[in-house]
Amino acid sequence: MTKTIKEMELKNKKVIIRCDFNVPIENGKISDDTRIKASLETIRYVLNKDGKIILLSHLGRIKQKQDLKENTLEPVAERLSSLLKKKVEFINETRGEKVESAVNKMKAKDIILLQNTRYEDLEGKKESSNDSELAKYWAQLGDVFINDAFGTCHRSHASNVGIASFIPSAIGFLIEKELNTLKELKCSKKPFILILGGKKVSDKIGVIENLITKVDYLLIGGGMAFTFLKAEGYQVGNSIVDNESINFCKKMLKKYEKKIVLPVDIKVNNEYSNEGKIVTRDITEIKENEMGLDIGPNTIKVFKTFLEKAETVLWNGPLGVYEFPNFKLATDEILNYLVKNKIKTIIGGGDTASTAGNLKDQIYHISTGGGATLEYLEGKELPGIQAIK
Ligand code: 3PG
Repeated sequence: MTKTIKEMELKNKKVIIRCDFNVPIENGKISDDTRIKASLETIRYVLNKDGKIILLSHLGRIKQKQDLKENTLEPVAERLSSLLKKKVEFINETRGEKVESAVNKMKAKDIILLQNTRYEDLEGKKESSNDSELAKYWAQLGDVFINDAFGTCHRSHASNVGIASFIPSAIGFLIEKELNTLKELKCSKKPFILILGGKKVSDKIGVIENLITKVDYLLIGGGMAFTFLKAEGYQVGNSIVDNESINFCKKMLKKYEKKIVLPVDIKVNNEYSNEGKIVTRDITEIKENEMGLDIGPNTIKVFKTFLEKAETVLWNGPLGVYEFPNFKLATDEILNYLVKNKIKTIIGGGDTASTAGNLKDQIYHISTGGGATLEYLEGKELPGIQAIK
């Protein structure tokens, strides 16, 4: 069993909480604060228990000096402070005197947020390689460690796996909820339908292999549909094809012919753009110079005939190029259909999560971690959880 926050003594303790504050920031402004809101339950719980809270998170990826400025966590401290209606002190360092003096001055219910843990990647990739000296340094700042960063549980980094090996550790409410929902899928009500989209088949091979025997149907859209269509012998023109996965698709189509549902028509363009010569083609009629960017209206109808009987739907990856308004229709329409018909839907984070927009609250569960969810669904152990066990 994985220890949870409720089993920890927190009163007057210095509690390090690893959050996933990896949120989209454009020109210093946070455009989606879902992940910050998702961390509030654990933070409020520690506040109510009179803990002293030291928050850690990564943001983006730090490869060179120029990456530092645009990946500062300062805007997150501000947003968190306004959500909690309480001061969150931002420390613009990941270690050193400033950090230690701020920690030493803390009283019960104080909150500090250290700078982006991946600033430590600039020289020697210390965070991402789980450098044990760094993990030990962070660990000695606190008495207790709570990992609540579900989105990073598939990574073995100093700020999640590393710290957990030095001080008493547990998972927070967010990770607990994510794990419980994913576990529920093991005995989900049938028909159980998996919808997969996104660009590459190779990213989802593990998920397909692990789930194909458990689901009743697998509906395939997005860029990955063209690799399956090509494997079936269709001409897909200039559409994206993941050539290395063709044999895998052939094998799956042969073995699970009745379970795998492919598009019957496609919205194509003559270029990878929102504008251009946009038409809908039957899958037998895609021209050499055309590129499929969304599934067509007949495919949406076909998908709905399967979904109307569904009791559980698991969805990962948009069905078209969602960032182009002309090619987001299928994703929006299927999402609306699931919500309208109150079908229990679990969205596996990443790009699909951001497509949910104002329907968010009506969906059974939207994961905060795309990569972590996929690895879990592949049947892999997540290092961030393993470390707590
Ligand atoms: C995510 O956004 O999926 C998580 O925050 C992990 O980020 P990473 O892929 O940069 O490790």
